[in-house]
Amino acid sequence: MLTVNTVLELQTAVKAWRLAGESIAFVPTMGNLHAGHLQLVNVAKTKADRAVVSIFVNPAQFGVGEDFDSYPRTEQEDQEKLEITGADILFLPPIAEIYAPDAQTTVSVTDISKLYCGASRPGHFNGVATIVCKLFNMVQPTVAVFGLKDFQQLTVIRTLVRDLNMPVQIVGVATVRETSGLAMSSRNGYLTIEEKTIAPLLYQSLITAHDAILAGNRPYPEIERQALRFLQQSGFQPDYFSVCRSSDLKKAGQEDTDLVLLAAARLGKTRLIDNICFWKGT
Ligand code: PAF
Repeated sequence: MLTVNTVLELQTAVKAWRLAGESIAFVPTMGNLHAGHLQLVNVAKTKADRAVVSIFVNPAQFGVGEDFDSYPRTEQEDQEKLEITGADILFLPPIAEIYAPDAQTTVSVTDISKLYCGASRPGHFNGVATIVCKLFNMVQPTVAVFGLKDFQQLTVIRTLVRDLNMPVQIVGVATVRETSGLAMSSRNGYLTIEEKTIAPLLYQSLITAHDAILAGNRPYPEIERQALRFLQQSGFQPDYFSVCRSSDLKKAGQEDTDLVLLAAARLGKTRLIDNICFWKGT
């Protein structure tokens, strides 16, 4: 695996592949790689001839008082994991390589970015949309692979690719979980030993709501209220729990069949998100 730090080195390598007729799959990450990330790389390798991974802790998607400074940076271990998994290139740029000091352009997917995580983290999805656009322009991938765990992020990215006619196929990959059910996340490392025993209850709240919806006998607002109560009683500070349409993340009605349950809650100083996406049938 080749590790490059500059856009020029990256573009030189991917240009040579493209000229040789090879397709490129891209996995953007912020590093501190776990089994969920490595699964994205494994899927990327099945989708194209070459797999490019980026590690860049993007300051533009962190708000004031958020964990940009403390976000885990484990580049040496990450490189070893990617080498074993079989990525072709790791793009590991410094901030100055990505953002000009007088950068003026931001990409905004206006409506979806205001909902749910966007309401609690103003500006977050503009930061994500902007860096993803920039990375797509640098790598020019055929396919880009993202985790379904960040379901709202994936919806933002699918929408920007559609709206800007970007010639890249977006692939979503199922969430990888601990045996406890807890969705793997770089932020799980912030959890104390006690919090680690509580954290899987976020997924449990989603399963309970999913089962109640399939049982078909309760209004969605009541299911949401019950889930929020359960999370609060379990020691979380819930942010939202919402029964949504998976296509546009608007609140679902009983007539909708493609659903996603979105949840976010704080446990101590850790903000956790999770979801279940499913088809309700008619
Ligand atoms: O999901 C992430 O790790 C980040 O939001 C992404 C997509 C790499 C953009 O910085």
